Amino acid sequence: ADTAALEGKRFLVSAGGTREPIDPVRYIGNRSSGKQGVAVAAAAAALGAKVVLLAANVDEAVLAEVAENPAVRVVPVGSAAELQSAALAASSGADVVIMAAAVSDYRVADVAEEKIRKEDSAGEPPTLTLVENPDILAELVHMRRPGQLLVGFAAETAASTDELLERGRRKLRRKGVDLLAVNAVGWNEGFESAENTLHILDRSGEVVANVSGTKQNTADALLHAVAAAL
Ligand code: C5P
Repeated sequence: ADTAALEGKRFLVSAGGTREPIDPVRYIGNRSSGKQGVAVAAAAAALGAKVVLLAANVDEAVLAEVAENPAVRVVPVGSAAELQSAALAASSGADVVIMAAAVSDYRVADVAEEKIRKEDSAGEPPTLTLVENPDILAELVHMRRPGQLLVGFAAETAASTDELLERGRRKLRRKGVDLLAVNAVGWNEGFESAENTLHILDRSGEVVANVSGTKQNTADALLHAVAAAL
């Protein structure tokens, strides 16, 4: 596809992983580094797009790739609730929304005001009650404005590529996105690593690209699919 179509387009990209507070010093998180989402933001900017990057707990070293780029505005966020407000505030101005962040499905129901102390627990391990977080991507799909393109990521563990794609197709239908980038994750792949494998599905569930390589390579493939879908 001709990526010239991305010139001047406004992108909203999320990257990283949310952290759900337990108390002032602890959280529930995940191992997403933000490398894939930052690579998508950098690639979009390189193709002439203007990018708002919602960075959920992304290390400075990872953000360095876009830090000096005037076409990328970085908005740091922590929890899913913070990501949600930033995403809702920025989405109406976006032509393309790419949600690459790993959002915690649950948060702690009652965040402790003070550090939870072992000596206060009378020998019993504490129990954390979780409540579901809103599905931000589903909300954005719901609020979509005409012509806006929405892209989701699906990080899945699966025993085979067929199972991975089947999970991806179900997620695609459930979320109502225009494109879904399915990536296999596990103890040693996907999250944190510099390389990635993406299977990109279009709205009909068709695989439009299979790409393995650096997160820059996979970002470029995703933007080709975006340009083709616009
Ligand atoms: O359902 P699942 O979490 O696997 O969906 C992944 C996709 O949905 C990603 O694009 C992720 O950024 C987005 N998501 C979201 N809000 C949530 C959970 C996931 O926007 N609460």
